[in-house]
Amino acid sequence: MDPRDKTAIVTGGASGIGRALVRALLAAQASTVVVVDRNAQMLQESLSRLETQLQAKVIVQQCDVGDQRLWRETLLALLRELGHIDIMCSNAGVARGGGLDASEQDWEESWRVNVLAHVTAASTLLPSMLEQGSGYFLSTASAAGLLTNLGAAPYSVTKHAVVGFAEWLAITYRSRGIRVSCLCPQGVRTPMLFPAGDIQDDSSQLALRSVTTFGDVREPDEVAELSIIAMREERFLVLPHLEVHDYIIRKSQDPERWIASMARYAEQLSQDLPGSA
Ligand SMILES: NC(=O)c1ccc[n+]([C@@H]2O[C@H](COP(=O)([O-])OP(=O)(O)OC[C@H]3O[C@@H](n4cnc5c(N)ncnc54)[C@H](O)[C@@H]3O)[C@@H](O)[C@H]2O)c1
Repeated sequence: MDPRDKTAIVTGGASGIGRALVRALLAAQASTVVVVDRNAQMLQESLSRLETQLQAKVIVQQCDVGDQRLWRETLLALLRELGHIDIMCSNAGVARGGGLDASEQDWEESWRVNVLAHVTAASTLLPSMLEQGSGYFLSTASAAGLLTNLGAAPYSVTKHAVVGFAEWLAITYRSRGIRVSCLCPQGVRTPMLFPAGDIQDDSSQLALRSVTTFGDVREPDEVAELSIIAMREERFLVLPHLEVHDYIIRKSQDPERWIASMARYAEQLSQDLPGSA
């Protein structure tokens, strides 16, 4: 799928990877890009930053994609307004740290935003894509969905679920012209990985530290560019950190050894956290 002259939606488009995806789609000459985010102020700021790139039509749309009913209504309204959607980038995500102490609310929000928002986008847009005989879903998961994110159970589990959903979608609708890419980076330099202010709880510190110390931290623009290349090649797995490919092989070849080595790594990182004895 070449984004040129296509209509695309990007969720979580006001910041980080989503904002870079919007820029990359515009650079690839998409005709219309809808930027969806729940943060209205950041949406307006990103629109003014995009002003120089505005040969294409850019629509900003405030929506909490974790609210299934609202998200579905928003997508249906966009479909009515634009006639068709070619590319759906489900990118908005929340990173909730915590292990067994994670709250019910954190689990629920992680399911709604990290998983169900992708399901709602697919179930709402698929009928029209099937009718037009083509459509593209770019699903931002994470390397945590293939491996794990130490210290962050809701994040790791929901990212596994969304990799599973993307795989299912790709297999089920391939013969009917639908293509899917699943973006699985490790660390990317965004406010999610480098939040403003101090992180107090140990699990969240461990979750962030494990990502920033485990490999290179990539720039959002690089990650977005690789996603557009994958889209053009219609490749399923997008791995901005090539080492993740080796880790998946090692994990599947010897899961016992992989779990033991990750447990040792978690132990070592926990001991290094500020405040630990
Ligand atoms: N930064 C990383 O290291 C990294 C690594 C792997 C995967 N990811 C994934 O990349 C995606 C983008 O994250 P990012 O790093 O750019 O973070 P970010 O915090 O910079 O951007 C996330 C954006 O999503 C929006 N958002 C969150 N919940 C929403 C909701 N319910 N409805 C609408 N918008 C919502 C936020 O307002 C924000 O603008 C996420 O799915 C994240 O899990 C990030």
